[in-house]
Amino acid sequence: MKFKYLSTPIFYPNNLPHIGHLYTTLIADVCSKAMKLFNRKSFFLTGLDEHGQKVAQAATNLGYSYQEHVDKLSQEFQEFFKSFNVEWGFWMRTSSSSHKQAVQHFWLVLKENGYIYKGHYAGWYSISEEAYLASEPEEKNKNIVWREEECYYFKLSALEKKLKAYYLKHTDIIYPQTRYKEVMGFLNKGLKDFVISRPRERLSWGVEVPDDAEHVVYVWIDALVNYLSAIGYPDASYKNYWPCTHILGKDILKFHAIYWPAMLMAANLPLMEKLIVHGWWLNEDQKISKSTGNVVPLEELIKKYQVDGLRYYLLKGVALGDDAHFREDLLSTVVYSDLANKFGNIFLRVLGLIEINFGGKLPTNLPTVKGAHAQALENEVEEFKGALSAIIKDPELICEYVNMFPKVSVAINDYFENNKIWEMKDKTQQGATLLFLMDILKKVSILASPIIPDTALDVMKFFGHKEVSFKYYDSQMPNSFPFSKPKFFPKIIAPKQN
Ligand code: MSP
Repeated sequence: MKFKYLSTPIFYPNNLPHIGHLYTTLIADVCSKAMKLFNRKSFFLTGLDEHGQKVAQAATNLGYSYQEHVDKLSQEFQEFFKSFNVEWGFWMRTSSSSHKQAVQHFWLVLKENGYIYKGHYAGWYSISEEAYLASEPEEKNKNIVWREEECYYFKLSALEKKLKAYYLKHTDIIYPQTRYKEVMGFLNKGLKDFVISRPRERLSWGVEVPDDAEHVVYVWIDALVNYLSAIGYPDASYKNYWPCTHILGKDILKFHAIYWPAMLMAANLPLMEKLIVHGWWLNEDQKISKSTGNVVPLEELIKKYQVDGLRYYLLKGVALGDDAHFREDLLSTVVYSDLANKFGNIFLRVLGLIEINFGGKLPTNLPTVKGAHAQALENEVEEFKGALSAIIKDPELICEYVNMFPKVSVAINDYFENNKIWEMKDKTQQGATLLFLMDILKKVSILASPIIPDTALDVMKFFGHKEVSFKYYDSQMPNSFPFSKPKFFPKIIAPKQN
């Protein structure tokens, strides 16, 4: 079986990582964790886009060599993601020699196939976007500069018809549909050839153009090829993985939906499997970014809401594809209402009754709980399982999956309330029901583990297991629980924000 291949964008190490980088990576991480749970062969790629002017500038400003700077930042980014329990399969570094070789090979293939030619460029250039601008911008700043230079072009115009035909046939390859329409809009305006090199004298921090040491490969070509170099390209082993489902922010849609498939067509390679395009986390009405200076400091938030609380809020607090304002009051509300009050609370209530009424030890050989209510609750859990397995094929269904978690937690609470478990006179029936609920809570924890991995692990440890795994899904429940209680989430009410 082929690997299911998921990628995030690779990040510019011109600054420290922030919540925006985390969000895009969490989407891939949740899907990758789901695949691992179901033993689906999968490959999750993330990492750094280390070349280009922005990164070179950052290194110079800080007084480091380019390589020293990216080495340091690579460490910082990895630690940041690890602290949020992100588990990638491959950490890309575009300054690695294997990646550079893949870029040069790819370049030569495009050249051989007649898609690269040498020319001149004169026009406005945006340093922050690492791109030439289509027209003179109204507002200029030191980020916008005039450039005249010899360069290599990619014959994008020659692929316009083919690309359009492709998208007309594959109408659901981009999620959401609004982004698909945006791409059709780009195509309808017409595609121009674009510059794919920079003069080496101006920017040495990049991959050398093969056979022409005066030029380096444009950082976006360098970066996009990472999706192939990570899986061994040009070695044929890449075929075990390719094509890939790319997760990306809306800011880099054109690069992924126009340039990248055109490049793949020019190299006679199959196109990507899907593009899943998310929106932005905003603060003070602007996209969160280091350069804007509106990043959300995370240290305090982690202390208050734990890593799982933040993971949950980032996934639950925005519909995939939309923008959302990062608000601590909303973070505290979802953590308190869903994680503490709905999920943690029912767990502790069930356990409390086992402790009070049975001294913490349920009788053995309790009968199986049957009936319409129990069946309805089991069906709800099955639906949650279905939603989790659905994101393996279609990661864009992640919100449907995440939203099932509070829904199923409410169903457990309702079952507990409606059946007035605490009032049951028949001890055997009461014990059996509590055991049934413990089993449901174990299953729900396994199913929620891609979202809240620390909490799920705590719950599994409580049942005497060392890890979260489907092998415990149908395993028999212990009748006593000598292990330490999961901590769940403290109640913190943040002040209301506007
Ligand atoms: N290096 C390029 C990508 C090359 S991929 C072949 C790049 N890097 S970036 O560091 O500027 O941003 C990468 C991604 O981070 C964005 O596409 C987006 O997915 C994510 N985000 C950065 N800031 C964000 C928010 N404020 N909100 C949500 N995601 C954002 O572009």
